[in-house]
Amino acid sequence: MNTIFQTIKQVAFKIDEAIKTEDLGYSDSENSSGEDQLKLDVQSDLIIEKAFASVSIVKNLVSEEKEGVLELNDSGKYTICYDPLDGSSLVDVNLSVGSIFGIYEGELKGENLIASAYVVYGPRIELVIAEKNKKPALYRAIGSDFKYVGEISMNEKGKLNASGGTQQYWCDYHKTFIDDLFAEGYRLRYSGGMVPDLHQIMLKGGGLFSYPGTSDVPKGKLRQLFEVIPFAFIYEQAGGQAINNKGLRLLELVPSHPHDTSPCFFGSNYEIEAMKKAYGIEDK
Ligand code: F6P
Repeated sequence: MNTIFQTIKQVAFKIDEAIKTEDLGYSDSENSSGEDQLKLDVQSDLIIEKAFASVSIVKNLVSEEKEGVLELNDSGKYTICYDPLDGSSLVDVNLSVGSIFGIYEGELKGENLIASAYVVYGPRIELVIAEKNKKPALYRAIGSDFKYVGEISMNEKGKLNASGGTQQYWCDYHKTFIDDLFAEGYRLRYSGGMVPDLHQIMLKGGGLFSYPGTSDVPKGKLRQLFEVIPFAFIYEQAGGQAINNKGLRLLELVPSHPHDTSPCFFGSNYEIEAMKKAYGIEDK
């Protein structure tokens, strides 16, 4: 597993370099969700693919930027599902973006995720790694290496509210829930980049990040294997919760297609309990 984390550290520097120096235009292609691909998306994907090609414990790669499964090493044990440059459309306005990695053993479903990691490319490069039975570990790039900063632990209740999804298409009870949090004193923090938005909430102790199902996109926008499940693991390891609109732990999701999406709610305990009440979800 350490080889995988070392590889993630190496690709983080390469992708950061590409973000800082490369062309910000569109490529000629679309990704499998029908979104136009930026040259930087394609390039970041290639950087990751190249780096893992020689890591023998990695069996397969599944990229947010590609349709199928890329078979790497027959004798490998793990499949890495990754989003090479999440929020890439924010690079041209110079906001933070990130890379997300979910490491699965066996069938691609939430309960087989055994570790996850993400990188934030902001004013500084930060890396968070989460493994079973441990608090997530935060690292920061200093020079050409990552230095351990400390473990991440969320409070019972936070102050921040990152509410995604087009408001025009929210259902009434979701709107009431979000409005009630603001009426309680929560402050809006939403950049449109899942990685920096979830990172901010975790490092500031807690709060809520939501991307609900809406009337235009009933299954939400965020992808289970590359975005939702890896972050659910990190939030749970940090002492928070991560559930869907029915109250199911996101770590229990079983995607039927690599690019399936899910409504998602990540937060500290207080906000997730409030969400369950607002959505009429009974405690199991
Ligand atoms: O999945 C890509 C992404 O850019 C996420 O990083 C982010 O949370 C979300 O989409 C933002 O979506 P919207 O623009 O609908 O708020």
